[in-house]
Amino acid sequence: MVALLDVCDLAVTYHGTRGDVPAVRGVDLTLDVGETLGIAGESGCGKSTLALALLRLLPAGTTVTGQVLLDGDDVLAMSWGQLRAVRWAGSSIVFQGAMHALNPVHRIGRQIAEPILLHEEVTEAQAHQRAADLLTQVGLPTWRAASYPHELSGGQRQRVMIAMALACSPRLIIADEATTALDVMIQAQVLDLIAGLVAERGIGLLMISHDLSVLSSTCARLAVMYAGRVVEVGPARSVFTSPAHPYAGALAAAFPTIGDPNSRGRPRGLGGDPPDPAAIPSGCPFHPRCPVVLPECSTADVGLWPVDGGDRHAACVRAAGAPPLSSGSRCGTGQ
Ligand SMILES: Nc1ncnc2c1ncn2[C@@H]1O[C@H](COP(=O)(O)OP(=O)(O)O)[C@@H](O)[C@H]1O
Ligand SMILES: [Mg+2]
Repeated sequence: MVALLDVCDLAVTYHGTRGDVPAVRGVDLTLDVGETLGIAGESGCGKSTLALALLRLLPAGTTVTGQVLLDGDDVLAMSWGQLRAVRWAGSSIVFQGAMHALNPVHRIGRQIAEPILLHEEVTEAQAHQRAADLLTQVGLPTWRAASYPHELSGGQRQRVMIAMALACSPRLIIADEATTALDVMIQAQVLDLIAGLVAERGIGLLMISHDLSVLSSTCARLAVMYAGRVVEVGPARSVFTSPAHPYAGALAAAFPTIGDPNSRGRPRGLGGDPPDPAAIPSGCPFHPRCPVVLPECSTADVGLWPVDGGDRHAACVRAAGAPPLSSGSRCGTGQ
């Protein structure tokens, strides 16, 4: 069976005034219809770059290599016409702060109906009916269609953004810190809403957050990113409760409570910062911060290694329990 999303050895390098910035370095991921995959990691680990690369939304001139298959079609090789169609009907992204992207001078209903009118052969009345149905699905009364964005609360605006993401019935939704700006109670409601819609509609969900506990409550599987790589991937429960990679362990300990605002800025108990992608340490990139570092960690660059009998993979010498693997393409491991 063809996976909904199949990312293979994806690498992204920005070329800026500071030189080359390898923000994503060989990521492999798969996601099936109806599956939820969370991507965790501190700020700067390459999560948003990964999300943008999946739909080719990166700035012009950025180098992207590897493969991104959406329903078996190679996104990186698509023409602009194909890409436009995929961005609306195939997949949608809900970004952090996207609720501020609503047009202040247009009513909510019109903004939800717009992409439907643009991309599907429907009448104005049908598009507005669909917009009203979508409002109901995200828990807003249909009369809200006549409201302007400033008349809604932050949580309500985020629900509108989710309705817009659902408008053209995408098969994949990428939510990048979509609830981070909301307070804890509203965040939990919006997450429940997203999880419910995903289950109901059989959508694939890629949910990105710096907060591992938020992801573990919403997603079935988790991938933890560090310095542009996936360092652990597996069932959310086991990654969160018994992490195999020390970085995943540090993140899990840093976010003990779902959506805890006190650990939002900087993970608690984790000293230092993720490396500057322009100066990534040799060996395991986490070794300078690792609480259980071994002498070989400064030279051994370990690739993902199966733990738990292969259900989970971690890129750590300790998890490998064997001579370190050389890194490089992990395509074909099914991870
Ligand atoms: N347009 C860009 N040009 C150069 N570097 C960038 C650009 N966008 C992001 N970066 C760098 O890439 C790295 C990863 O960023 P990002 O993907 O936003 O991480 P995250 O979403 O995990 O916080 C960071 O070091 C960031 O500074
Ligand atoms: Mg980001």
